[in-house]
Amino acid sequence: MHANRIERPADLDVVRDSYDRVADNYVDMVLTTGIGDIRRHPWYKASIDAFADTVGGLGPVLDVGCGPGTVTAYLAERGLDVSGVDLSPRMIEHARRLHPRCRFEVASATDLDLAEASLGGVLGWWSLFNLPRDVLPRVLALFARALKPGGHLITATHVGDGDVVRTEAYGGVPVRWTTHRWRPEQLVDLIERAGLRPVAELRVPADEHTGPGVVVMAGRTG
Ligand SMILES: C[S@@+](CC[C@H](N)C(=O)[O-])C[C@H]1O[C@@H](n2cnc3c(N)ncnc32)[C@H](O)[C@@H]1O
Repeated sequence: MHANRIERPADLDVVRDSYDRVADNYVDMVLTTGIGDIRRHPWYKASIDAFADTVGGLGPVLDVGCGPGTVTAYLAERGLDVSGVDLSPRMIEHARRLHPRCRFEVASATDLDLAEASLGGVLGWWSLFNLPRDVLPRVLALFARALKPGGHLITATHVGDGDVVRTEAYGGVPVRWTTHRWRPEQLVDLIERAGLRPVAELRVPADEHTGPGVVVMAGRTG
């Protein structure tokens, strides 16, 4: 048995099918409204820029749950050696179409074969909130192990108490997924337990499109 094997979430297929169904509307939203595009959100862009400044030149960067590759392509434009993976084949089709010069693969965060100390950076940018509460710590530990000393993780997620079961999303498309919301201090604690040292935390209040969020960046020291 693989020593670092992470148990497959029971709802993984349902979550994948749901993102496949919303992918076209999600891409349309990003392209036509700018929602979900860091270039249109100065604080998210500043976070990603700080991440890029920190990990640039350290080694490969992996955007886990990259969706249509908006952030992947932004980091590639900044000169990073970056690639993206996503659970949803339809999201990856869009990513490849929109950003043909970038590398994308279909994969779940729970099924990545990452060599120890192989990455300069890893992102879980609004893509880890569907992981069950007992699975997220395992994925964070996998990321921590995969980072080189000095490498960094950046993650953004929904803030709150408890879980929200979504039955429709992005323009009324039927979906079935659970959004596991985290309090910022809980998320920071999980990241520390995974072996990373948090270096910055950005809290973003709710707006007309979405609830409150948090961005955490953390590094591997040794
Ligand atoms: C809200 S979208 C964000 C996409 C992208 N990071 C962005 O900022 O545009 C969430 C993404 O997470 C992906 N996702 C959900 N669960 C995942 C998992 N277990 N492994 C990899 N990707 C996952 C979905 O397929 C979807 O593309």
